[in-house]
Amino acid sequence: CSPNFKIATPSSLLLYPAAVFCLIYVLLKAIQLYHKRQQLLKAFESFPGPPSHWLYGHSSQISQGGELNQLLSWAKEYPYAYPRWIGGFMASLTVNHPDYAKTVFGHGGTVTGAYFRKGLLILHGPKWFQHRRLLTPGFHYDVLKPYVSLMAESTKVMLDKWERLITVDKSVELFEHVSLMTLDSIMKCAFSCHSNCQTDRDSDYYIKAVYDLTYLVFHRFRFFPFHNDFIYRISSQGRRFQEACRLAHQHTDKVIKERKTSLQDQQELEKIQKKKFLDFLDILLCAKDENGAGLSDEDLRAEVDTFMFEGHDTTASGVSWLLYCMALHPEHQQRCREEIKEILGDRETIQWDDLGKMTYSTMCIKESLRLYPPVPGVSRLLSKPITFHDGRTVPEGSLVAVSIYSLHRNPTVWQDPEVFDPMRFSPENVSKRHSHAFLPFAAGARNCIGKQFAMNELKVALALTLLRFELTPDPAKPPQEIPQIVLKSSHGIHLLLRKLP
Ligand code: HEM
Ligand SMILES: *[C@@H]1O[C@H](CO)[C@@H](O)[C@H](O)[C@H]1NC(C)=O
Repeated sequence: CSPNFKIATPSSLLLYPAAVFCLIYVLLKAIQLYHKRQQLLKAFESFPGPPSHWLYGHSSQISQGGELNQLLSWAKEYPYAYPRWIGGFMASLTVNHPDYAKTVFGHGGTVTGAYFRKGLLILHGPKWFQHRRLLTPGFHYDVLKPYVSLMAESTKVMLDKWERLITVDKSVELFEHVSLMTLDSIMKCAFSCHSNCQTDRDSDYYIKAVYDLTYLVFHRFRFFPFHNDFIYRISSQGRRFQEACRLAHQHTDKVIKERKTSLQDQQELEKIQKKKFLDFLDILLCAKDENGAGLSDEDLRAEVDTFMFEGHDTTASGVSWLLYCMALHPEHQQRCREEIKEILGDRETIQWDDLGKMTYSTMCIKESLRLYPPVPGVSRLLSKPITFHDGRTVPEGSLVAVSIYSLHRNPTVWQDPEVFDPMRFSPENVSKRHSHAFLPFAAGARNCIGKQFAMNELKVALALTLLRFELTPDPAKPPQEIPQIVLKSSHGIHLLLRKLP
């Protein structure tokens, strides 16, 4: 609302109504915000929470750094749930307890929090349910099985790189390499794309775009004025966001186009039909609903983006933190290594059948996912009111966020939650525990569709890495956890690698 002064100056007659208009607009906007705030205060009135500023909400407490520690200390005070204010006019009920999480994930009227996804990679909202049915066959055991050797191949490229990189007493930043590895692997499994992105420096513009997107969405969420679409669009961050989206889309369009072209080519088609396995893109391209309708190009792109995005960044986080946990706990590292050596014998590579035998390693992987959940929180928008087991309710239209990170470290659920103890995942202990105490892949109808894929990749990466290297932490560079949608470390994860004989 900026009156055009060049036109207005000759006659103040024009300026005057414009000023009045602006004033009224600002006034109406203020009333609207006031009303919204009152509504939110009422919605969450039965939930006490940490004191918050009327305009900044909890933002000032959060931006002082150590956001996750702040969440933990709030969770200690409010072990079930509390309202968290992002600015004075937006709040979500933050859930820290399995009983509450169970209600949220079991609730029919929840849609994935629009905020995180809107405008990111899934542009036009969730046609999620229909799509999920189309996609589920893509995660069938028969489809996943041949991926194991592709994952192993990608992991080996990474380990070879590390071997060339290591020098005595100098640590390696893992996250970057692991991200490229998981991207390489998802591109092979999902699209049969052999990209060389791990060794070819120039091909990783897509990785940079995804990095940018996660960073930008994270900041947009925390900086209240950016919640307004218009302000965001004209800001420099907003423009960077658009550019990153454009790059990501360009990459995706290329992948789809190449496949469609090869489907037209008879020779290529025969090659695909003879392929030992179907990749996700084959499944997406063939997916038809009961009316015989397939996915539109735009839907296809949204799905491809989701796979790439959800599939590689999360797994990269999982693998990196897992290797960090192994480095911190040499006794568990050694036990996993021995288990893997025993399973593989003198074979150098790993196969599908081996994965099920990695009992102790799997417990360590789960314990690492507990302490460092790659997706530290998920949010849901309520399309109908929700009532928790204790009778407290939240009205329709509210945002509810399950803080997976806080839940996994909730001392009323986990004994000595900060301690790394794989025995927590022994079958006896698991059966004694709340069904919703461990939620790295969320739960309910909208849980992670790629869970099995991810677990396989974690196992392959762990096994092959431990066979080749001994890991120790770099005391000079401890990681600093930050939730950039995916759990990362603000300056990477640095480990010392020693090549095993
Ligand atoms: C360690 C790795 C992973 C973790 C911790 C993880 C975690 C999660 C979580 C917590 C959700 C729920 C998000 C929400 O509701 O807002 C989710 C959803 C999803 N994940 Fe994963 N994920 C991982 C790997 C993967 C992989 C490898 C793929 C694909 C190949 C994948 C595909 C998806 C998809 C498509 C959804 C949306 C499902 C739906 O809404 O129906 N994820 N994931
Ligand atoms: C259950 O967990 C506790 C604490 O982590 C551990 O000491 C104990 O050995 C576990 N029990 C079994 C049967 O694994």
